[in-house]
Amino acid sequence: MAGGKRGEPKGAAPSGEAGAGQSLHVAIVMDGNGRWAKRRGLPRTLGHRAGVESLKRTVSAASELGVRWLTVFGFSTENWSRPAAEVAELMALPKRYFETDLARLEREGVRVRVLGRREGLSADLVQIIEEAERRTAHNDRFFLQVAFNYGGQADIVDAARRFAEAVAEGRARPEELTEGAFAGLLSTGGAPAPDLVIRPSGERRLSNFLLWESAYAEFVFQDVLWPDYGAEHLKAAIEEFQTRERRYGGAVADDVLAAG
Ligand code: IPE
Ligand code: MG
Repeated sequence: MAGGKRGEPKGAAPSGEAGAGQSLHVAIVMDGNGRWAKRRGLPRTLGHRAGVESLKRTVSAASELGVRWLTVFGFSTENWSRPAAEVAELMALPKRYFETDLARLEREGVRVRVLGRREGLSADLVQIIEEAERRTAHNDRFFLQVAFNYGGQADIVDAARRFAEAVAEGRARPEELTEGAFAGLLSTGGAPAPDLVIRPSGERRLSNFLLWESAYAEFVFQDVLWPDYGAEHLKAAIEEFQTRERRYGGAVADDVLAAG
């Protein structure tokens, strides 16, 4: 039961790209579409459509800022509780995005992966997702992961269930389950852990996004609503990230002692 379902590179990608981000993995909770629409007296659906335009801008900006992995939260397993009309609009967003952008993503070396449960999605939507993954499977310049019908807890449960099944069928032994092996069973298996998790819109919660993966991520909260998000906000978040000291539970030499 080795990790890495899809054979992608482990850990940070080799450095050498231009830009402030240097092969970073940035994850974003795309939030605030509804409030953006409300402020303009528009239906929430138009907020979600504007949010797709933001995603397009942000993917381009990320790549220019040296980010190599971008993971965005599009639809959570909890979002099914919204009114049916809104759920229908949200379900239509991947089509809206890939219809206009898949050819460009493919051409520009972006590999697309959609995280989360496929059960519950319409056959049409599953087909759109699979097409996006298939057509970009050979790319490795930039990795875009879209969490859709995703919940961090659900993803952990699904991974645990897969491992339990492997044990029950004699394909794995309990003692083989390490943190690394378990990470490989998540829908993010094979991807490096996010370095930076950004949540715009003023909310300061993780909301069941990348629970396992963000164990050592830095968090940046920004007050801008997602439909207004753009390159300058991403740049500011990365600059804030670069001021953080990451210790991964370790310690750095005591400055006073080190100075003698
Ligand atoms: C983000 O915007 C889109 C999804 C969560 C699917 P919201 O719809 O959550 O917008 P607010 O939080 O109501 O403003
Ligand atoms: Mg919200």
